[in-house]
Order: sequence, then structure tokens, then C-alpha cells
Amino acid sequence: MKKKKVFLTRTLHDFALRELKKQYQIEVHSGKIPMPRKKLETKIKEIDGLICFPYDLIDSKLIDRAENLRVISTYSVGFDHIDTKYAKKKKIRVGYTPEVLTDATADLAFSLMIDVMRRVSEGDRIIRKGNWKNIYGAYDYVGSDLQKKTLGIFGLGRIGSTLAKRAKSFEMNIIYHNRNQVSANKEKLLGAKYVSFEKLVSQSDVITIHVPHTKQTDQLFNKKILKKMKKTAFLINTARGKIINEKDLIEALKKKTIAGAALDVFESEPIRKDHPFTKIQNVTLTPHIGSSTKETRVKMAEITIKNLHLGINGKKPMYSVGF
Ligand code: DGY
Repeated sequence: MKKKKVFLTRTLHDFALRELKKQYQIEVHSGKIPMPRKKLETKIKEIDGLICFPYDLIDSKLIDRAENLRVISTYSVGFDHIDTKYAKKKKIRVGYTPEVLTDATADLAFSLMIDVMRRVSEGDRIIRKGNWKNIYGAYDYVGSDLQKKTLGIFGLGRIGSTLAKRAKSFEMNIIYHNRNQVSANKEKLLGAKYVSFEKLVSQSDVITIHVPHTKQTDQLFNKKILKKMKKTAFLINTARGKIINEKDLIEALKKKTIAGAALDVFESEPIRKDHPFTKIQNVTLTPHIGSSTKETRVKMAEITIKNLHLGINGKKPMYSVGF
């Protein structure tokens, strides 16, 4: 029997490729990342399974070109790059990788929070540039305590809840806003109090974003919302860049209408060397590494190929969007 065709828009671990090769005819894009759209448009016509990444745009136009495609398996928890509704309409299953990256992403969000509040990366930049002039002065390089500060978690799902556990041990006051209030039991366990979005914005000393990028959250943190944050507050984003209006955030950081930000995700990635963020001191920047630990990336690859395998054989992926 002819092997089914699987295309990867980028390589994965060797073990994953070996596993895939046992059952499928595989092809891996090498070269420019994200892979050129034209090439993907050609490839999608002939394949049964696709493994993609968060920067590959899998929209209805692309899906329409597919003739045999049974499954799209993304190497990410986020699936805002895939038109999942359209895929479902076309009976193409979509798999993603939640749970395994919860700890890694919560840890990164927490470390970014400490980093920007205690000015860790800023201090590193000061030393590397040879600008360490003052030693130990009362006002030198002072940051903010985390203890007793109000942490506003926007999105108390898997990652938000895991972050809350970390924050509780740091004696932070935790408030959250979610589409739905979580159970009283869970609130008690996490020590988290439900508030409206407006209160989350105005009462938090640090806000951390853990919601998906949707029509409702697109550019949600814009000038109007940023203005309602405390002047001493920080904004952390490890979710998706498009949830923040970057132009408005840059202005808020420059004018110091908020104290600082720490960002792992951006409207367009990678950001340019001369992006305005790179010129601002009160922002910490990381290159989309939320799930980037050795252990987590291996688990994500395992799930990505499991999802692909199930979907290509007409079964529901282990973690599936829709059906
Ligand atoms: C994802 O998996 O969607 C995350 O952005 C990885 O950090």
C-alpha cells in the first residue's frame, strides 16, 4: 500500500522524524523560516497530514487547496494561526499540544515578572555596556518587591492557574479575570479572587496575560486600557503579541505611564534589531521561549506526532480542536 504523505513546515527532533518515517512518506521543509507561502500552497495539495508551527498561517485559502488533507497538527498550544472552523467544515482534524507546556510557560511568565520588577536584564545590559557607575546607593537600580503586590491574572486556565500557585508562595495577592469565574474550590486553592476586567486593569501591580488571541482579545491592551493601569504597574505577555497594541505600549513605556513590561511574544516575530522595544530600558524581551525547555519540547513533539497519527487515520487527535 502506498504510504500517506506528511509534510513538516520545519524539522522536529530526530526521534519524531524516525517515528514518522516508519509509517509515512515524509518531507521536511528546510531553508527560510517561516517557509514561503507559495511552497506551502503547492505542498498542501498533495499531502495527507501537515505538521506546522505557530507562525505558519493556515487560513481558509490554503485549506481550500488541499485535496487529501486529513489532519493539521500544530507544534504549539496556540492555534490562532489556523482557521479551525474552516478546517472542521472541510472535515480536517486539528491537533495541538496543551498541558505539557503549562509548567514551562508559567515558569517563564513568572521569571519575566521577577526580571522586569527587579530590573535583572536591565542590570545585565548596564554592566555589558560598561555603564555601571554607581554602587549600592539608596536609589540605585531599585526595583519593586513582589511580596504583598497584587497580581492580576488575565485568563485563569492551565497556565494562569499554574502561575497563581507560584505567586501564592511569593505571598502575592492574586486577582483574576476569566470568561467564566472558576469554582469556589479552585479559587480557594489558588488564593485567587475573581474581578471584572476593569478592576483587574486598575487594581493590579502586575498584569500577566494568559488568554488566546481571538477577535475579542485582539489589540485589547491598547491606549485606553493601558491608561487605566497604575503608573507603577507592569505588564507581562507570554500569550500572543497581537493581544497588545505595540505602538500604544511603546508610548506608555516611553512616557512611563506604566512602570514596565516583559514580553515573550510580539505582533510580528522575530522583531527587528532596531525595533523601538530594543531602545527602551523598562522592557524585558525574550524570543518566544514560553515552552522552550528540552523536556517540554520533546513532550510537544511526542504529542504532535500522536495527534498527526490519529487524525490521519480518521480518529480524533489526543488533543483536538473541534472534533
Ligand atoms: C504555544 O505553544 O503556542 C506557545 O506560544 C509556545 O511558547
